Amino acid sequence: MKAVAVIPKSRRVELIDVEPPELSGPSQVELRMLEVGICGTDKEIAAFEYGSPPPGADHLVIGHESLAEVVDVGASVSRVRRGDLVVPTVRRPCPHEHCVACREGRQDFCYTGDFTERGIKERHGYMTELVVDDESFLNVVPPEIREVAVLVEPLTIAEKALAQVRQVQQRLPWGCAGSTPSDVGRCHRAVVLGAGPVGLLGAMALAAEGFQVTVFSREPSGGPKAALVESFGAAYVSGATDSIETLATKVGNIDLVYEAVGASAVAFEVMKFLGVNGVFVFTGVPGRRKPVTIDTDLLMRHLVLQNQVVFGSVNAGRDAFEAAIRDLGRFLERWPQATRSLVTGRHPVDAYAELLAGKIGGIKNVVAF
Ligand code: BGC
Repeated sequence: MKAVAVIPKSRRVELIDVEPPELSGPSQVELRMLEVGICGTDKEIAAFEYGSPPPGADHLVIGHESLAEVVDVGASVSRVRRGDLVVPTVRRPCPHEHCVACREGRQDFCYTGDFTERGIKERHGYMTELVVDDESFLNVVPPEIREVAVLVEPLTIAEKALAQVRQVQQRLPWGCAGSTPSDVGRCHRAVVLGAGPVGLLGAMALAAEGFQVTVFSREPSGGPKAALVESFGAAYVSGATDSIETLATKVGNIDLVYEAVGASAVAFEVMKFLGVNGVFVFTGVPGRRKPVTIDTDLLMRHLVLQNQVVFGSVNAGRDAFEAAIRDLGRFLERWPQATRSLVTGRHPVDAYAELLAGKIGGIKNVVAF
């Protein structure tokens, strides 16, 4: 059976041959992988900047954004049936008794750092033909969203962040939902940094939630990215022609920044313009570049004097997967064209090298088995 793997010791990325997995417990499920998305994390792993093989192995099978079909189930499996479409979660709990997050099934908040992640950290991933997993990590997807269901995992990033934004905004007792663009102080003006898949899915999730969304990215205004953003009711401001000051003037009080660009210099520059009672969410994991100079006094004054909240968010729990599955259905109904256009290419597994080297452009590229 074919699998795409990185071999860090020899710094190679290869299509390898592996033994098909077998069910080894009653709660296990065998999955046939249908589609596996490629993201920035995969490209970093393939450049040997991130990721690690399972203990004792010299290779890591990559792939963590997926859509699969159930082909076999263990004797006690009750959550899924043969033929179901499923999206498995990525992170698996650490073994420590004292890690309350993992013991509660919320390994996305793991305290010890000893969690594993399929296709990323010490556990093989999904870019292969067959996979075995425990039923507790599977999320059933309705067939109506099959064509875009590979976007569930990247959308969970936004869903987890949004759940936390809602919690923070509850501190404003007049309520934020159902606001109109003219309602100043209704905490509904969001800026999304970056127009890759995480940014665009975040922008859609925010627009669906009633936010007035502005996407800030480097592609030119009037281009296809801008058109896509505008097609789901968000505004587009191009970093190629507009400064961050201009962005801030256009938006007004920035109630929320959803960072999906992975570049700290840009992010902290934008943080200077976060509005009163604003929330800034980081989702990107930047590489280690040169340190940048930031005006920490200014940021600290704003944080305190303007009641601001800054938080980071990684990975996602079952609730975020369920929300993502529900929301993708809603996006498809409301913005069918825009939602479908996020998946820009389906490729055979043999195209793995070009895909991982970033030689194939587009928004979300997918390996289809
Ligand atoms: C994945 C997350 C993962 C994170 C850090 C992201 O690309 O979507 O599930 O937790 O990388 O490894």
